[in-house]
Amino acid sequence: MPANFGSDNSSGVHPLIIEALAKASMGSAPAYGADALTKKVESRLASLFECEVTALLVSTGTAANCIGLATLTSSFSGIYAHAEAHIANDESTAPELYTGGARLFIVGGDDAKPDLEELAQKIDVSGARGVHSVQPAVISISNLTELGARLSPDEIAAYSELAKNRGMKLFMDGARFANAVAGGSESPADLTWRSGVDALSFGATKNGAMAAEALVFFNPDEAILAEFHRKRGGHLWSKHRYLAAQFDAYLEGDLWLELATASNTSMARLRDGISLSNNASILAGGDGNELFIAMEEDVAEGLLQRGHMFYAWPSLPKAYRLVTSFTTTTAEIDDFIEDLNS
Ligand SMILES: Cc1ncc(COP(=O)(O)O)c(C=O)c1O
Repeated sequence: MPANFGSDNSSGVHPLIIEALAKASMGSAPAYGADALTKKVESRLASLFECEVTALLVSTGTAANCIGLATLTSSFSGIYAHAEAHIANDESTAPELYTGGARLFIVGGDDAKPDLEELAQKIDVSGARGVHSVQPAVISISNLTELGARLSPDEIAAYSELAKNRGMKLFMDGARFANAVAGGSESPADLTWRSGVDALSFGATKNGAMAAEALVFFNPDEAILAEFHRKRGGHLWSKHRYLAAQFDAYLEGDLWLELATASNTSMARLRDGISLSNNASILAGGDGNELFIAMEEDVAEGLLQRGHMFYAWPSLPKAYRLVTSFTTTTAEIDDFIEDLNS
C-alpha cells in the first residue's frame, strides 16, 4: 500500500470529531463564541494547562500564530525566530499584515532550534539604537520545531530567560504541540507557561480536527487585544460552535494525546526501518511525527513512481520530509521501507 508521508494535513478528520460536529449542528446556539460549547472548551483548556487561560479558537495555524504575534507586539516591534520557522517561510506576509509591519529577524541553529547566542546578538544589535531601531518584542519558537525536534522544558526556559531579561515575550507555534507532548513525559503546563511561554498556538487540524486551532494566552492581561485582532483579521467565526465542537471532542478523553501518540509510534517504526536502510540516511527529526532524510534523486523518484507521497525539503542537502499522522498504517510504513530497500 503506497504511503502518504506528504503532510499530516493530508489525513482525514477523526470520526469522533465528525460526530461532535453533527451533534453541535442540532438546534440553534448563540453566535460569535457566546455558546455553551465554547465556554466548555475554555474551561477544558484551563484544566489541561492547569492555570487560568484566555483561549481563542480559529481555523488556521497561520491565523493563530499571527493573531498571537499581533497581540504581543506593535507595528514597530521586532520578532525573532529560526530561519526554518513557519512564520518566516510559510505564512506569506501574514505576520507583517497582522502586526501592522513588525519586522521578522531570523537566526540559525541545529534542528531548527534558534541558536541562543545568535538570538541574543541579533536582538541586541537590532534594538540598540532606541527610536531608530525596531523594539525587540517577541521570541517565537516552535514545538515540534520545523525540523521535527522536540524542545524540552529546559530548552524552552532558556529562550524564556533570554526574552524576559530583555522585556520580551515568548511565543510558541504549537501546530504539532500534541506530538511534542506525546513525545515525552512532561505535561502541557511544563512545556508552556511553567517554562516561561506567554502564548501558544495549539494545533488540532493536523491531528484529527477538520480546521481548528486554539490560541492560548497564559496571562489573560496580555490577551486583551487578541479578540480585536481576530475580528479585524476576519477570523471570528459567527457559527463558532463548530470550532468549539471540534476542540471539545479533541480534548474529551485525551483524544488529542491518543492520536498524537499513534502518529509518533508510526514515526518510530518508520525511523527504525530507515535507520537500517542503505538507501537513505536520517538528517533530522524523528522526535515526534516528522523525519528528514537524505536519498539520491533516483531513489526518491522510484518511491514516488510507486505511489508513495512525500516532499523534497530544499533547505537541507538531498533532503526529503516524511510526516506520519494518526491515520498512518503499519502497511504503509512497511511497504515504503520494502520499496526503499528494493
Ligand atoms: C510549524 C507549523 N506552524 C503552523 C502551521 C499552520 O499552518 P496553516 O495556516 O496552514 O494551518 C503549520 C502547517 O503546516 C506548521 O507546520
